[in-house]
Amino acid sequence: MQPNGNDDVQRVRDASDIVRVVGEHIELKARGREYLGICPFHDDKKPSMYVVPNKQIYHCFSCGAGGDIFTFVQDFHKMTFREALKFLADRAGVKLESRGRRRTANDDAESVSRSVLLEANELAERFFKSILRHAEHGQSARELIERRGISQEMVDAFNIGAAPDMWDGLRKFLESKQHNLEPFLNLGLLKASDKGQGPYDAQRNRLVFPIRDQIGRVVAFGGRRINDEDEPKYINSSESPVFDKSATLFGLDLANRAIQKEGVAVIAEGYTDVIACHQAGITNVVATLGTALTPKHATLLQRLCHTVVLLFDGDEAGQKAADRAAEVFLTLPIDAKIATLAGHTDAKDPDELLKREGGSGVLKAALDDATELLEYRIERLRARLTNAGAAQTERALRDEFRDLGRLGLASADKVRWQFIIRRLSELSGLNIDTVAELVREGANRRQGPDFSGAEAEPQKRKHRTSTAEILGCLLAMPERWIGLESNEALLEAACRGTELWPLFEVMKELAHSTGRTDLNATVDQLRQRDANHRFAVELEQDISRRHSESADQLNETLAFCLRNLQQHSTTVEAKPAGSTADRLEQIKAQKEAHGPNTRLLPRIRPVSGSQGPNS
Ligand code: UTP
Ligand code: MN
Repeated sequence: MQPNGNDDVQRVRDASDIVRVVGEHIELKARGREYLGICPFHDDKKPSMYVVPNKQIYHCFSCGAGGDIFTFVQDFHKMTFREALKFLADRAGVKLESRGRRRTANDDAESVSRSVLLEANELAERFFKSILRHAEHGQSARELIERRGISQEMVDAFNIGAAPDMWDGLRKFLESKQHNLEPFLNLGLLKASDKGQGPYDAQRNRLVFPIRDQIGRVVAFGGRRINDEDEPKYINSSESPVFDKSATLFGLDLANRAIQKEGVAVIAEGYTDVIACHQAGITNVVATLGTALTPKHATLLQRLCHTVVLLFDGDEAGQKAADRAAEVFLTLPIDAKIATLAGHTDAKDPDELLKREGGSGVLKAALDDATELLEYRIERLRARLTNAGAAQTERALRDEFRDLGRLGLASADKVRWQFIIRRLSELSGLNIDTVAELVREGANRRQGPDFSGAEAEPQKRKHRTSTAEILGCLLAMPERWIGLESNEALLEAACRGTELWPLFEVMKELAHSTGRTDLNATVDQLRQRDANHRFAVELEQDISRRHSESADQLNETLAFCLRNLQQHSTTVEAKPAGSTADRLEQIKAQKEAHGPNTRLLPRIRPVSGSQGPNS
């Protein structure tokens, strides 16, 4: 067999660095030769995902997620393998040779329909862009851009476009190219007419802002009216399998890097505010799509930075949002601050402010002046209580702490809980125990899950059969297969008909053709066969970590498991095959020997200084 049926995969892997690829999506910290981060594939607050540069893989010891760069990108962005390959190739500047759109069984109906919708959005984006350049149909939009002071650089960076003042501009364009209109109806770019005249354009005479996901795929559009008398001010795409409004942040694709670099994300209120900020060189700014910040937004940002600054136009909006933000941020390991323009300027929003002389300085001052969410709430409380007596103040503080408890503060993890309680104690002047008691009281009144203080138990490692351990050892020591000799046949017999079979087959073929069973090559081959490659990574990582990568110990385990295999094979084969009942007995014996019986496995001596999760 060809060691690599698809050369593109190897070239893209060689040109990419898994630490950088994963590091662009989640925050990673160096831990010895490896990197550790909070796993994005399960709900967690503690880092449990390892990225292993020398093996080019990642693995979460808590939920078991794992794979290579392709798996990561596929799972993180819900892409098909082909899309992940293309995404990583573009990123690394590798030109793909096999252009074939090989759809595999892994590309299920859902991901196919997602990619159809994404392609439709891409097409619509090109259409809107060409309209903006059109001498006649783009003129009023270009004038608006001019009036708003949006630079050509920002028009290009945000790919701003225009919808013509017509009912059938997009429709005619699509029809002339014989495109299926269905996806455009699903996206809300076309609307079905009830007069039986066929679909019509949803965006008419508007400046069109493409809304992208974190990696720049167009998931929706926001169209701003050009004429003030048109209603509503903005028309957004409808929610679809590619567009979840409550999980999308406008500008995140462009702000991604700056947010990670600074560790801070600024969330503004509107599309035009984001564009103005980027134009002024403040590039860590994104916006929600006219809604409050949701836990999904926060989770997205939590992977990139430690602090979120909510930037509000006026005081009132800020206060309302501060109330709601508490709910989102109290339990997540991310700090929230509130910044309002009021008090710094009479400009109504960042966009207006930035058009003024010295505007960006004022905006930066407002951002620097941002108040911690809890402090903001307590200060506001104090402001209301300036003339109140001691009893009234005390009662208000009590209510506030109970509120915070009710909002979920009590279920924050231990470190965060202690940090926040200490902070509240400083702010209020009450002692820590009193504050903690009040917050817990509030939590007890909370409906739904009660305060437990306990953190989720990491998933227990599944029991592995002795045979699986052998494959794991051979993945961890890729040159060892060759020494198997007669054990190979025994191993083959033990794997046949079990879930281990595809893995065994691939490893055997690799060993015979290349002399080695490297993890990456194994993963590639399994993927090509649509077999479970994540399992191979999990198995290898589990074994490597339990043995702290010590070759001696790995060999010891391998030898032990092989002896085990030999013994059971000989006892079974020694008996002449008799009745069916006898045979069933034999199979049962075999199953028991290789089944989930951990007592069969050697105990592993802990190696000092090891940092594995199980040490
Ligand atoms: P704003 O009314 O503040 O708009 O709404 P803006 O972004 O500042 O736009 P300009 O500067 O007046 O041109 C803030 C955000 O609320 C959402 C949009 O996301 C907008 O950017 N919105 C507003 C809608 O979705 N629909 C609307 O009709 C109005
Ligand atoms: Mn505005």
